[in-house]
Amino acid sequence: MSPDFVVRPATAEDEAAMVELEHASAIHHASVDPARWRVPEIDAIARYRRNRRVADPDGGALVAEADGRVVGMVELLPRGFTADAGAARMPIPSVDVGLSVAPEWRRRGVGTALMGAAEEWAHEHGASRVILDLAAANTGALHLYERLGYEVHGLLMDKVVSAPASNGPGGVGSPALESYAHPRITGVDRDPESVPTIDGEKVRLRPLVEADREALLAVLRDPSVVEVWDTRGAELSADELIAGDEDWTVWAVEVDGRFAGSIQAAEEEDPDYRHAGIDIFLSSAFQGHGYGTDAVRTLARHLFEVRGHHRLTMDPAASNARAIRSYEKVGFKPVGVMRRYERGVDRNFHDGLLMDLLAGELR
Ligand SMILES: CC(C)(COP(=O)(O)OP(=O)(O)OC[C@H]1O[C@@H](n2cnc3c(N)ncnc32)[C@H](O)[C@@H]1OP(=O)(O)O)[C@@H](O)C(=O)NCCC(=O)NCCS
Repeated sequence: MSPDFVVRPATAEDEAAMVELEHASAIHHASVDPARWRVPEIDAIARYRRNRRVADPDGGALVAEADGRVVGMVELLPRGFTADAGAARMPIPSVDVGLSVAPEWRRRGVGTALMGAAEEWAHEHGASRVILDLAAANTGALHLYERLGYEVHGLLMDKVVSAPASNGPGGVGSPALESYAHPRITGVDRDPESVPTIDGEKVRLRPLVEADREALLAVLRDPSVVEVWDTRGAELSADELIAGDEDWTVWAVEVDGRFAGSIQAAEEEDPDYRHAGIDIFLSSAFQGHGYGTDAVRTLARHLFEVRGHHRLTMDPAASNARAIRSYEKVGFKPVGVMRRYERGVDRNFHDGLLMDLLAGELR
């Protein structure tokens, strides 16, 4: 019997149906494994998918269509085409697949057909493997993948060690805890586990963690930092930086293993305005030795080369001559003065200097 559906590449017109499929898939996962899965709002799924596309521009998708309706999809994300020479895991060019079939179309061969097409897509795109991750509770899907010849090559394990969302930084109910307990993954990897450690010439950027709190507070209380940083005070700043935020990725700046300060990146994910902004502060003991310049240069390189940005911005106070000089050394150019841009500790609004750096201009 010939199938009563066709598999074809997804188009922009399929997006609403694909959001619905992802929603249906979330319902299925939350029903088989409610401790680890939830069902997001439709709008949130749509936004999440837009952000994912920006983060993974090489990805693709195929859909199954029956009677003019999208009844299944498989999303395709190339992985392992490049790897750090220091990474022990072999860089095997692969395509990571995510399969969803509409509930009323399950067990009718749609999943098998989509997986077959996904394997062809992977082959055509130079991948030698198709990979996927699977909730252990999703036994129906496990059965399908085993039948198709997929093998288990690793296990994702976890163990409950405390009640959920009760002991993050910032205290129960604080905005910091809220974003910590429910990290929303957008273009940047928000999970502190996945914030990369990046070595510059003089500094190391590594994820900022709870254990940094005391050292971080000391830097935030340094008068030269108080002058230019968050007027709401060191405690709140530290809470927010450690908790992370849906809009920010935060690193500690280390010099020879010593905590020198922090640098952050904010990535704008609207594809029409895509860019990233950088902020930095170092304690006075580490200022004036080229560490800040190296930290900004190192993060800028990461944002261009790994995150794929074409434009970066910084916005020092117009009076912060040292910061402006430092950013100029990296290649940032002054764009213009933003008048009465930010409020200072004296409660007055001061001018800020907008600076930007385009890919290819990094020095
Ligand atoms: C701004 C900051 C990140 C720069 O990092 P840094 O490691 O101190 O910078 P560097 O030592 O690489 O470079 C500073 C440059 O400014 C110059 N400089 C220092 N004081 C200056 C001043 N008052 N006027 C003009 N230039 C000055 C230095 O001579 C040096 O330039 P050079 O290498 O050409 O001689 C760091 O000083 C810092 O954290 N300051 C406190 C917080 C802050 O201002 N953050 C920025 C918020 S936007």
